[in-house]
Amino acid sequence: MRMRIKKHGAERLQACDNLLLDRPAAPISSSREVIGEDLPLWLEIGCGKGDFACGMAERNPDVCFVALERISNVMVNAVEKAAARAENRPDRLRFAIADAASLSEWFAPHSLDRIFLNFSDPWPKKGHTKRRLTYRAFLETYFSLLKPGGKLAFKTDNAGLFDFTLEELAALGKTPDAVTRDLHNSPYNAGNVETEYEKNFSQKGFPIHYLTVTV
Ligand SMILES: C[S@@+](CC[C@H](N)C(=O)[O-])C[C@H]1O[C@@H](n2cnc3c(N)ncnc32)[C@H](O)[C@@H]1O
Repeated sequence: MRMRIKKHGAERLQACDNLLLDRPAAPISSSREVIGEDLPLWLEIGCGKGDFACGMAERNPDVCFVALERISNVMVNAVEKAAARAENRPDRLRFAIADAASLSEWFAPHSLDRIFLNFSDPWPKKGHTKRRLTYRAFLETYFSLLKPGGKLAFKTDNAGLFDFTLEELAALGKTPDAVTRDLHNSPYNAGNVETEYEKNFSQKGFPIHYLTVTV
């Protein structure tokens, strides 16, 4: 499906410039470089239209939350949503237009407390395995960016991608500390913030798969 270019997309992003991070000259090593305060630094990769990022910022006001998305056209929705919220109450949510492949240029080793991957594109064809955001090379990067004790959380509707992710983790010698194939009917659902895809898939009756791994 071709995405329609958003009217005035560049201007709309420009209007929310205060929430957008510039590509850093050197990788970010702490939240102080993002918001001027030392707080836990959390990252969402592939934030889409920003429901999860906004919901997490709301529930976790003492965290610096960075939401990364590679498609600027999609990011317009996310930053406008966040800007509307921040009008009433400035928060510690920021956005980066970037590809996950460039993460090491954005964040220094052991700089992140948590990483969230939500409904990552499944890339079902075998020839596209390396594009999956839970392919082992991506996982290795995430683990190198997380602090000791830091956590990666992953949720998806896609059983194939979930199985693949468990296999990739096992290949790296990592054991998840939480695994469920029905998040919404599990104890891990307490405090869960739903994404746009999650709302859509769960309304259609698809169970949500979820795991976490601690470094
Ligand atoms: C299926 S959508 C899910 C959106 C949102 N996380 C949700 O759950 O509603 C996947 C999102 O990840 C983004 N994405 C895919 N690959 C990416 C990459 N390599 N780097 C950054 N974002 C990526 C896509 O542009 C898209 O917005």
